[in-house]
Amino acid sequence: MINIALDGPSGAGKSTVARRAAEIFDFVYIDTGAMFRSLALKALDTSVDIVSDHDAVVSMLNNTSLDICRKDGQQHMILDGVDVTGKIRTPEVSKAASDIAIIPAVREWVLKAERALARKYDCIMDGRDIGTCVLPNADVKIFLTASAEARAQRRHRELIEKGIDTSFDEVLSEMKYRDKQDCEREVSPLRMSEDAHLADTTELNLEESVDLVCSIIRKVIN
Ligand code: DC
Repeated sequence: MINIALDGPSGAGKSTVARRAAEIFDFVYIDTGAMFRSLALKALDTSVDIVSDHDAVVSMLNNTSLDICRKDGQQHMILDGVDVTGKIRTPEVSKAASDIAIIPAVREWVLKAERALARKYDCIMDGRDIGTCVLPNADVKIFLTASAEARAQRRHRELIEKGIDTSFDEVLSEMKYRDKQDCEREVSPLRMSEDAHLADTTELNLEESVDLVCSIIRKVIN
């Protein structure tokens, strides 16, 4: 199997770029953030206190089934038999996903699922620790990033387009909160693997970002 690890902070454009590159190379795109988001959604919906009751989160995990299925080329998250894909992109779930992702038992649970998928598919897997921890032997590792302001601007635009009413400052401060927590957590923090290619998209539009990432992949796998 060919495995491509695409890591980077939130809002760097990983999911859009990975989806497009996966189409071009005919790989399966795997969005690992969606797994943390689905678990966070369940915790919110069942009033599990993610921040201060890690034992409750662990018992929730023991009673949770999470499947990924593909419909019309899109990844759908099936949580306890229900498709929750449309519910995991709110700012509330974004914050809760970052909070739940610091819990070691959650990371272990997700890690098993991620590795099983990588064994099954030629894939581009996007996340925070794919190159450093989940797939240390990935064929290609890319670290996709952009300045916090550029990332917040893109995310703000996306939320407004989806009809989610929020201010730029709110999005920027949520992004900084997540950057800090994702980079500073003890288990599998976000960092660039030494053998990763850096792709900085601050000055690039979407097409240019896709071209950059595809050219890195092409150079390595050809
Ligand atoms: O990529 P995203 O914004 O959908 O991810 C949501 C949160 O999940 C992110 O703030 C950190 C966490 N995450 C992680 O810790 N490790 C991953 N491989 C993917 C996401």
